[in-house]
Amino acid sequence: GKGQFEHFMLKEIYEQPTALTQALEGRVDPENGRIALEDLELGTFNDIDNVQLIACGTSYHAALYGSLTLNQAGIKSTALLANEYSVASPPIDDNTLVIAVTQSGETADTLNALRQANEAGANTLTVTNVVGSTAAREADDALFIRAGPEIGVAATKTFSSQAVMLSLLVQRITEDIHGTPAATEIESYLSELAEMPDQIEELLERSDAEALASRYEQSQSYFFIGRGLGFPVALEGALKFKEITYEHAEGFASGELKHGPLALVTPDTPVFAVFTGEEDEKTLKNAEEAQTRGAPVVAVCPEGHRAVDVADAHLEIPDTDADLAGLLANVQLQLVSYYAADLLERPIDKPRNLAKSVTVE
Ligand code: M6R
Repeated sequence: GKGQFEHFMLKEIYEQPTALTQALEGRVDPENGRIALEDLELGTFNDIDNVQLIACGTSYHAALYGSLTLNQAGIKSTALLANEYSVASPPIDDNTLVIAVTQSGETADTLNALRQANEAGANTLTVTNVVGSTAAREADDALFIRAGPEIGVAATKTFSSQAVMLSLLVQRITEDIHGTPAATEIESYLSELAEMPDQIEELLERSDAEALASRYEQSQSYFFIGRGLGFPVALEGALKFKEITYEHAEGFASGELKHGPLALVTPDTPVFAVFTGEEDEKTLKNAEEAQTRGAPVVAVCPEGHRAVDVADAHLEIPDTDADLAGLLANVQLQLVSYYAADLLERPIDKPRNLAKSVTVE
């Protein structure tokens, strides 16, 4: 049941500290700087030289997050929409790893892309929440995110758990290929990771998301911007917002705002700017360009960040590694969507026209 919560979505947002603790259980040892993933059929990733991540919707945003992390670590990687894969898939060879990211493990688009990759001879791995799911069975290997059942149609805790699982996997892949993990200071990275459940707990206790949602209730459109690992978070923030509020929302790479979307910006279009510590000064400049046109800017960043002074409102996230800041920002954005949808009295757990698991192409 929903327990003390009015909706499964809110319950699942609040379950994130537990979900992440379960995802990390036995897999990280911060003191020794070690990551211990389960033994994989694939063995090591020594021979891998390119990685494709395939997924849809929210899982695609987690895939993009994983792929950007791999690129930052110097490994060739692309995130691809599974429903585009049959018409435009990059070449596959013996050294290609294809990772299917799917909460349910039953999404038809993702299964099709996975089957195509299997047939083309790729090494395949599924990251999923559901043990025994089709995607888990059909890939060479599977890693489980252990988030527990997710009932709300809007994916929340599974996004966070997928992203964390992928970031562990990225460390392992990078270590196998380059001899050193992606994070230059692996001990401190792993301890930040281990602190994430507590940080989310703290964020949930102190969040101003509800007040913020009511402050901007009358707006016409909602924009989300981010750079680097903040970009998939901006996309995810907008997807969640449109999915459950039925209001118009779009996510952009911060730098793209001036290449077109700025034409839409008015005092009725709040801009949520996610700061991850990756060229934040540029993102701030992009946000200010919107502010000049009258748009209220909501800075999603740690306390004491320069953006707080510039922005019209602030959603605070605890200070952490640049690799993880976006995941904390995402939790704030989940709350904003939830409270905005609640004010509008939407059927939050079952939005119109949508299904939890999309089993048609
Ligand atoms: O089960 P999957 O992760 O494969 O599902 C993919 C998408 O259908 C899913 O993430 C969808 O976008 C969510 N409803 C978004 O909240």
